[in-house]
Amino acid sequence: MNLLGTKEIETDRLILKIPTMKEQKILWEILMIPEVNRYYLDINKKFKDRLLNWEIQKKFYEEKVNHAKDKDKFEWSIFLKNNGECIGQINSHISSKECDEENTMSLGWYFNPKYQKRGYATEAALAMINYMFNEVNLKKYKTSAAIPNIASWKLMEKLGFIRDKNKTIFNEYTFIDEPVESYIYELNKDKYSK
Ligand SMILES: CC(C)(COP(=O)(O)OP(=O)(O)OC[C@H]1O[C@@H](n2cnc3c(N)ncnc32)[C@H](O)[C@@H]1OP(=O)(O)O)[C@@H](O)C(=O)NCCC(=O)NCCS
Repeated sequence: MNLLGTKEIETDRLILKIPTMKEQKILWEILMIPEVNRYYLDINKKFKDRLLNWEIQKKFYEEKVNHAKDKDKFEWSIFLKNNGECIGQINSHISSKECDEENTMSLGWYFNPKYQKRGYATEAALAMINYMFNEVNLKKYKTSAAIPNIASWKLMEKLGFIRDKNKTIFNEYTFIDEPVESYIYELNKDKYSK
């Protein structure tokens, strides 16, 4: 894998940028919307009250931004070209739970509900996946999506991810009491290019 780090990418309607502190509060506000974080946040439940307080969170976001240009970080803040608004975030990362093979990463995405269902997630994900497969030389994505999170696994299927038909896992989410049954998905570079 070529550790090239996050690189600015432009698509038809979006600019995917290296995260800066300027837009982090907006991203935190988006992430604190229950319908956005429900099947996304998996931080230990004992921290859930702290998540809701920007003054506490700010230092974690600063820490993240300080490492945004590290060559092993692949995380983008997503902006609309037409008005410059930050509408979401997308990333590729190594998850100890899901990435049991070399050259394999998981991914994450969330968008402001105001801008969902307009194809923006598809556009951003295609841009990130093309970069990760063609320039970074990642071989495979392996990830999971809560079964009730239909928008997310439909998006995975639209992008060509293949669901494991024989297995599901149970994911813990910060704001949900019980573990949630989740589909497992894979996207292979070789199959994706074809
Ligand atoms: C998942 C998410 C990123 C999709 O964003 P989006 O910009 O609305 O996605 P798109 O408009 O590109 O839609 C892509 C596909 O997803 C599916 N989809 C999107 N929203 C859907 C919904 N509410 N119900 C069912 N399918 C949906 C559709 O198949 C759609 O393709 P189509 O329009 O060709 O039918 C967004 O819903 C989100 O931010 N969810 C909260 C955060 C989250 O759960 N992240 C994932 C954790 S695994």
